[in-house]
Amino acid sequence: MIGAGAALTACGAGPSSSGGESTSDTPAAGTPVGKAADVPVGSGKIFADQKVVVTQLTAGDFKAYSAVCTHQGCIVSSIDKSEIQCACHGSAYSIKDGSVVAGPATTALPSATVTDKNGTLTLG
Ligand code: FES
Repeated sequence: MIGAGAALTACGAGPSSSGGESTSDTPAAGTPVGKAADVPVGSGKIFADQKVVVTQLTAGDFKAYSAVCTHQGCIVSSIDKSEIQCACHGSAYSIKDGSVVAGPATTALPSATVTDKNGTLTLG
């Protein structure tokens, strides 16, 4: 019996819109990131699976950045109070705005948007 497979949709990624295709590694809007309660106030948390860093400088004020180091693409490794650090070559970024605090990276982490929806941080 020879049959053509009818269910070969790989990733479910259909053409959702024309243009605006992102070249970033950051997941699409609407992606759940994690629990708001896991992000310490005055610091932040790296969600490596989603490749997102979420910071919370003051309670309820969430900011998000790509977790992909702009130097050579490692996922940033830790947050030390005011700095997002990449262990690969020692770059560091500010938790306030993602700007470079220490090289070799020269470009800030791209920002993203997260929304706290009933305790769950969601991109977009
Ligand atoms: S990839 Fe992050 S410092 Fe080089």
